[in-house]
Amino acid sequence: MRVIYLDNAATSYPKPESVYEAVDRFNRYQGGNPGRGASSKTLAAGSVLMEAREALAKLFNVKESSHIAFTLNVTEALNVGLKGILEPGDHVITTSMEHNAVARPLHVLRKKGVEWTAVPCHPDGSLDPEEVKKAIQPNTRMICVLHASNLTGTIMPIDELGRIAKNNGIIFLVDSAQTAGVLSIDVEAQNIDILCFTGHKALLGPQGTGGIYVRPGLLITPLKEGGTGSKSEFLEQPEMMPDLLESGTPNTPGTAGLLAGVNFVMSQGLERIREHEQKLTEMLISGLKEIPGVELYGPEHAASRTAVVPFNIENVDCGEVSLILDQKYGIVTRSGLHCAPLAHGTVGTLKKGAVRMSLGYFTSVDDVETVIKAVYEIARERY
Ligand SMILES: Cc1ncc(COP(=O)(O)O)c(C=O)c1O
Repeated sequence: MRVIYLDNAATSYPKPESVYEAVDRFNRYQGGNPGRGASSKTLAAGSVLMEAREALAKLFNVKESSHIAFTLNVTEALNVGLKGILEPGDHVITTSMEHNAVARPLHVLRKKGVEWTAVPCHPDGSLDPEEVKKAIQPNTRMICVLHASNLTGTIMPIDELGRIAKNNGIIFLVDSAQTAGVLSIDVEAQNIDILCFTGHKALLGPQGTGGIYVRPGLLITPLKEGGTGSKSEFLEQPEMMPDLLESGTPNTPGTAGLLAGVNFVMSQGLERIREHEQKLTEMLISGLKEIPGVELYGPEHAASRTAVVPFNIENVDCGEVSLILDQKYGIVTRSGLHCAPLAHGTVGTLKKGAVRMSLGYFTSVDDVETVIKAVYEIARERY
C-alpha cells in the first residue's frame, strides 16, 4: 500500500535526497568536531556550521549570521528565549494558540514571578492585534507569538505585532516552527528580536536541528554552560554569539542535513512552495467541507493558514478516524491534542481533540484526492 504522509506539521517526510546525502557524507567521510582545535577535520566541520548559519541568515534576513545559535529543536530555542530573558516581575504577552513549547516554560516562569497574559484568539485561531496592544502593561517585557498555529494553521499578524512591540520598546519573540521554509520571515522588516526555528519541519532538515536568532545588543542568559572550543582559559562562558548559547558538541551531521534542506527550499523558492501547499490546502478544505458529518476547524480560506487542516467526524473518536486512515488507507495523520491544549481550548475541541492533516512539499494532487475519498468512505460508514 502506498503511504500518504500527512503529518508534516509534526515533522516533514520524506526529505529531499540531498538532505540524506549530506548527513551520510558528513558521518562517513567528513567527521570532525567543529571549533575543537585546528585540524583539517575540525575546520571542515566548522565550515558546515558556518555555511548553515549563513544560509539561514539569508533566509531570515539576519545581518550577522553569528547571532544564530543552533539548538536541538525549537523547543530548546524557545526555552532559551523565554528563560534567558524573562525575570520575576516581568510581564509577557502570548496568544491563546501557543504550543506547549511556549506554554510549559511560561507555566514554570509564572511560578517564579513572571506575569503571563494569553490574549484570547477567535475560534478559527485568528488574533486581533488591538487586543495585544490593550494587554500591554508598564512591566511588559516581551510579546511572544507563534507565526502560525500547528492546530489550525492560522497565520498570525506578525507584521503588526512587531510594530506594536517596537513602538512600545518590548522584545518581540516569534516561534516559527510552522512557517520557516514556507512563509517569508524577515527579522529586520518584521522587527523580530528573537526568532526560534526548528530544522525538521518545512526547512526539510533532519530531526535534532533548530536554532535561535538573538538581535545584537539583546542580553540573554544561556541555559547551559560548557565547552565551546573558544576562550577555554576562562571559567566564564564566552559572551559572544553563537558561543554564548552553544555549549557542547553540536549536531554537526544534522546541521549538514539542515544546510541541504535550506538550500533545497531556497532553490525552489518560498513563493512556489507556498503556492503549491496553498492550492492543495484549498482543495482539501473544499473536498472535506462537502462530506456530511465532517466538522472542519480553522480559517475558511487557505490564504489565511498554512497547510494544516484539522477535522472531526461527528460522533466518531478522532483516534479511531486516524487509525482507520492509517491502517486501511495508508494515510498518516495525527490525532489528539497536538501538544496544544490552549489552542484546542480556543477552537472548542479540548475534550475531543481532532484529526490533523498537514500537507508538505511532497504532497500531490493525487494524494489529496485519495484522502478526500477515504474520509468520505469513513464518514459514510460511521456517521
Ligand atoms: C508552533 C510550534 N511550536 C513549537 C513546536 C515544537 O517543535 P519541536 O518539537 O521541533 O521542538 C511545534 C511542533 O509541532 C510547533 O508546531
